[in-house]
Amino acid sequence: MRVLGIETSCDETGIAVYDDKQGLLSHALYSQVKLHADYGGVVPELASRDHVRKIIPLIRQALKNANTDIADIDGIAYTKGPGLIGALLVGACVGRSLAFAWNKPAIGVHHMEGHLLAPMLEEDAPEFPFVALLVSGGHSMLVKVDGIGLYEVLGESVDDAAGEAFDKTAKLMGLDYPGGPRLAKLAAKGEPAGYQFPRPMTDRPGLDFSFSGLKTFTANTIAAEPDDEQTRANIARAFEEAVVDTLAIKCRRALKQTGYNRLVIAGGVSANTRLRETLAEMMSSIGGRVYYPRGEFCTDNGAMIAFAGLQRLKAGQQEDLAVKGQPRWPLDTLPPLA
Ligand code: KG4
Ligand code: ZN
Repeated sequence: MRVLGIETSCDETGIAVYDDKQGLLSHALYSQVKLHADYGGVVPELASRDHVRKIIPLIRQALKNANTDIADIDGIAYTKGPGLIGALLVGACVGRSLAFAWNKPAIGVHHMEGHLLAPMLEEDAPEFPFVALLVSGGHSMLVKVDGIGLYEVLGESVDDAAGEAFDKTAKLMGLDYPGGPRLAKLAAKGEPAGYQFPRPMTDRPGLDFSFSGLKTFTANTIAAEPDDEQTRANIARAFEEAVVDTLAIKCRRALKQTGYNRLVIAGGVSANTRLRETLAEMMSSIGGRVYYPRGEFCTDNGAMIAFAGLQRLKAGQQEDLAVKGQPRWPLDTLPPLA
């Protein structure tokens, strides 16, 4: 089976062709980062309009690079939610309409299920069951994963998502959008024992996260300390260490609670080097392993949507003819495969 995948939930237009026998045949990505940079964040209306401009040329390019004709496509998968409604509707409208015109089945994919399954695009894919730490710009959650669609959300952020905390803190430090990777770069120049920041909500039981207090703590530290490059780097490092440590503590708890020894990390923040290294060390100390997708599949992309959609189409699931976007969509309401 060969599936065309379409991702347009936020500020990246991602298109891919995935084949269940041959693997990923092509993927094309257009990032709107430059478009939104002047505004310090994503402007939803501009995002929708840019998806409209880029989606068709990218589909053509992905099909060409995959050496694939329309006749070779067995189904179309598009991100149905969660995300920005205007942006979602561009992908849903194009995906659903093409499927109708080409007489193929279509499936609306949950964006976070896409992230969650992204490590399976790699050769060394994790087996079920596992614990997944999903950390993106819009979500932070720990999920018990027993199979596709067998998801139990163990904990989530009660305020800012991890990526959002990175982005907002980066903004406080005067770094441009998107701040997460920039803050991580600055943190790499920080000294280890510069500052000690709190690890929110680790002093009580439970698997929920809270990051907005950490952002305020950072703002207060910036205001109280001198404004030189080394101090800024030290503060960035202390912030990054606090987020990473907090996530690691909660991951360890979730593994203990489930008895699982495989950890999957996905979503934009899983590209963070300190997070990867800390979790790899933690997992090897408890005789387990951490899995994550290659860098370009940590952030939004079409490959993860094609892959997740293929699994569901193959199991016979498909959308009706209505074009629907679902900006809010709890992950644990997804149906199992069979
Ligand atoms: O998954 P994603 O591309 O989009 C959403 O679904 O939200 O995640 C984007 C988020 C942004 O908040 C970005 O700052 C963060 O991931 N991010 C990082 C890094 N790379 C991306 N945060 C920390 N360190 C990084 N290296
Ligand atoms: Zn995402």
